[in-house]
Amino acid sequence: MKINKEYKEITSDIINDEHFIELKDDNHHGSSRYDHCKRVSYLSFLMAKFLKANYRDTAISGLLHDYFHGVTNSNEDISYLTHPNTSIINAKKDFNINSEEEEIIRTHMYHYALVKHTLPFINKREKVSAKEYKPTSKEGYIVCLSDLLVSIYEVGVFKVRYKTCLYFLFLINLINYYGG
Ligand SMILES: [Fe+2]
Ligand SMILES: [Fe+2]
Repeated sequence: MKINKEYKEITSDIINDEHFIELKDDNHHGSSRYDHCKRVSYLSFLMAKFLKANYRDTAISGLLHDYFHGVTNSNEDISYLTHPNTSIINAKKDFNINSEEEEIIRTHMYHYALVKHTLPFINKREKVSAKEYKPTSKEGYIVCLSDLLVSIYEVGVFKVRYKTCLYFLFLINLINYYGG
């Protein structure tokens, strides 16, 4: 399919890069950060195509928006609010990103900043000004929205899988109990 071919042409250098592949070792919403970044990138690419935005920038910044190692919020460089900057530093070190892509990555946590602004009791240690994270381009909003949608999807799937395992264990125990 033409769209998939175009997406591959834009992203294959990053997707097949040995440093980027290391994201497979990082857990993210019950799957790997590698898969999460690919999902955000592809959805951003499709949305940008549909909205006639810069699909190249959204595909690249979608891939690199969470380009860091470790568990989010486990240290100050990769907290919910600081990891965009850490991702930019890492992306600049390993790949060529332009200033638009950098800005898209910097503002991708606007959804979280808005939630924190509305519900300030969440994670009280980190103060945030939603304005600081407000996207400055259509592409910035696209990646921010894709990240939110993909995250909701991943957390949902993870919970369903977790619950299915629990029910399965419960069933096995029940069979053992009455069968044995
Ligand atoms: Fe992120
Ligand atoms: Fe993300």
